[in-house]
Amino acid sequence: MSRIVVFLLLLLPQACAWWTTSSFTYLSRSSGAKLATTTSPSTFLEQRLQSKIYGDNSEGSSSSRLFPSGPGELFNVPVKTIKPSGLRLSLALVALGLQNTPVQGAWVAQQEDDGVTIFWNDGTAALNVKISYLGILFTRMGEEPSLPYQLNESNVIRELLEEIEDFGKGDGGAVEETNRLVTFDEEGWAAIENAKGMLIKDAN
Ligand SMILES: *[C@@H]1O[C@H](CO)[C@@H](O)[C@H](O)[C@H]1NC(C)=O
Repeated sequence: MSRIVVFLLLLLPQACAWWTTSSFTYLSRSSGAKLATTTSPSTFLEQRLQSKIYGDNSEGSSSSRLFPSGPGELFNVPVKTIKPSGLRLSLALVALGLQNTPVQGAWVAQQEDDGVTIFWNDGTAALNVKISYLGILFTRMGEEPSLPYQLNESNVIRELLEEIEDFGKGDGGAVEETNRLVTFDEEGWAAIENAKGMLIKDAN
């Protein structure tokens, strides 16, 4: 083996490590503001694509970005205390109430043992909310969630988060903390704020 080949082989592990850990920073073309720093090339491409579809997202905070467009876990809201069965039932009712938003038959809500799933009418995707002592986990299901799904998903998540915030605040303090369906510490409230920042701006 020539010396140069040996040299390159020795460098290979470093090159791999660089590829997996290097981060990409996506700059807004108009303002030069840093939109997002991602740790893998695929998320980087996904975000560029999203920025194309939804337009520049730089009017929010400079660190704001949207959820990736594919399936997967969107975010988890860690809880301080939780009454899982009560919260499940309440969120299932909220989801039922959202079925005809924005049009008749837009969503179909289905209660699960551990939460609720809301299916979008074009069959491309669904939003699952799992409730446990670990938190309230939002997951997008479906191989290729359509664009209308994603636009409407943001509205549904926004509605659900507003209800969850109300539960956490005990209906503006009317419900005593020990009786609340869910309570959050700073980490939980921050997770809610962060998730809201990643929603597509209300298009209605
Ligand atoms: C929601 O889905 C409908 C199609 O049912 C679509 O026309 C609309 O643009 C979507 N987005 C929002 C924000 O409602």
